[in-house]
Amino acid sequence: MSANEFYSLRVNGKTHQVQDSWVGESLLYVLRERLGLPGTKGACEQGECGSCTVLMDDAAVCACLVMAATAINSEIVTVEGITTDSTLTDVQQSFVDEGAVQCGFCTPGLIVAVHHLLEKNPQPSEFEVKEAISGNICRCTGYGRVFAAVEATIRSRNAGK
Ligand code: FES
Ligand code: FES
Repeated sequence: MSANEFYSLRVNGKTHQVQDSWVGESLLYVLRERLGLPGTKGACEQGECGSCTVLMDDAAVCACLVMAATAINSEIVTVEGITTDSTLTDVQQSFVDEGAVQCGFCTPGLIVAVHHLLEKNPQPSEFEVKEAISGNICRCTGYGRVFAAVEATIRSRNAGK
């Protein structure tokens, strides 16, 4: 694929045309700069911090490590796509309520990671929560508030059953 060609990406349930793209562009770059989806954050761009976490075919991946052109046949979900509702998800609301959002830079990646965890495993152990977010670096919260937000989400889901 050369410049001036285009390819399609499935993101948040919609097909997007990516025009005039260099084949080596990362999914992170394409999401943010070409598709206008700035929720996915870029920090290290080396797969170390998790701020760019998205779902690719229902697996949590670092978008900075995926070449966008290799995702042509995949379903991508970004933080903008975890709900079609205009209100916050219960995970997002718990992050706000429990003070797990401080500078907020890590938050979209953590939200995607926690959303994914609870979809797969609605009653995770403390170890499983730690494991699920072990790739998401937060320099502000010390993680205690993040764990509290996950616990609050689980509690409220259990209470709503
Ligand atoms: S920006 Fe992708 S892991 Fe840090
Ligand atoms: S809230 Fe600042 S890095 Fe996590």
